[in-house]
Amino acid sequence: MENRQVALITGCSTGIGFETALLLARKGHRVFATLRNPEKAGLLREAARGLDLEILPLDVDKPASVKKAVAAALQGAGRIDALVNNAGWGAFGAVEEFSDAEIRAQYETNVFGLVRVTREVLPLMRRQKRGRILHIGSLAGKMAFAGIGLYCSTKHAVEAATESLRLETRPFNIEVAVVEPGTIRTPFKTNRRIAKVFQEGRSAYRKPMENLLRFANHPSPSTPGPEKVAAVVWKALQSKRMAARYPVGADAVWLPFLRRLMPDSLFDRVLEARYARFQQLG
Ligand SMILES: NC(=O)c1ccc[n+]([C@@H]2O[C@H](COP(=O)([O-])OP(=O)(O)OC[C@H]3O[C@@H](n4cnc5c(N)ncnc54)[C@H](OP(=O)(O)O)[C@@H]3O)[C@@H](O)[C@H]2O)c1
Repeated sequence: MENRQVALITGCSTGIGFETALLLARKGHRVFATLRNPEKAGLLREAARGLDLEILPLDVDKPASVKKAVAAALQGAGRIDALVNNAGWGAFGAVEEFSDAEIRAQYETNVFGLVRVTREVLPLMRRQKRGRILHIGSLAGKMAFAGIGLYCSTKHAVEAATESLRLETRPFNIEVAVVEPGTIRTPFKTNRRIAKVFQEGRSAYRKPMENLLRFANHPSPSTPGPEKVAAVVWKALQSKRMAARYPVGADAVWLPFLRRLMPDSLFDRVLEARYARFQQLG
């Protein structure tokens, strides 16, 4: 059997998955870069020319698609050493105003999808007696913000699942960790799904949400790109023993720290001041 490490990554059409797939392949991994829509494979195929990177279809929302992709990777490489659960998207709107269907759709990808892929890969890693799983969580899994409460709740679920999996899989020499990016410059924000009530102009929260949306669409020039997250994934996979958490970006480090430090009343005032600034911008 070859010595090269084999990685399977979800959600590689753009952003963090795209960059991680390329970086791992450049560093010598055999990479199965998966994406749900084969029509979006062109850019990755072009960028991966000359690298050992195979593109496979995988929609984490669909159990049959997950089974097929993992089986194809296994057939191709004989094993999977690293799984990067990256696929995800963000819902935007007031918590009160999402329909049950919208809430289910958000959980279907960010939580059920992640667990589904993990469940498919873990028996194989147990047989191998080794493996590493990295979940792409978020700063939004450490604390919550107005307008993205539903998304934050899914990333909080990812944190809890990571923590439990980490303990459960340790006896099998399988390590699980979560990468927690703050704001990263990717198509994530343009890809987010806005609550139907808000889109139809029926939201009771219209004005503040419009301001939040406008603010969020203009990341600062210092916002890091997805290659920064890819580098952290690489570092985690190379480490002797993976840490439980890998925050990426200054906001991912400092905001949860300040949140823990400040009493609720003070933190509420800080956020209110921030939101007031959004309104001035509007
Ligand atoms: N960008 C940020 O600020 C940020 C911060 C913290 C955490 N994150 C997390 O980082 C991860 C990657 O996001 P990104 O920033 O790279 O955004 P992105 O460029 O929008 O990438 C998201 C990827 O997930 C894929 N995806 C969505 N639903 C899927 C499904 N059902 N099955 C398979 N793939 C699916 C998308 O595919 P399509 O192209 O087909 O839609 C795309 O490839 C997400 O989990 C996100 O929550 C992002």
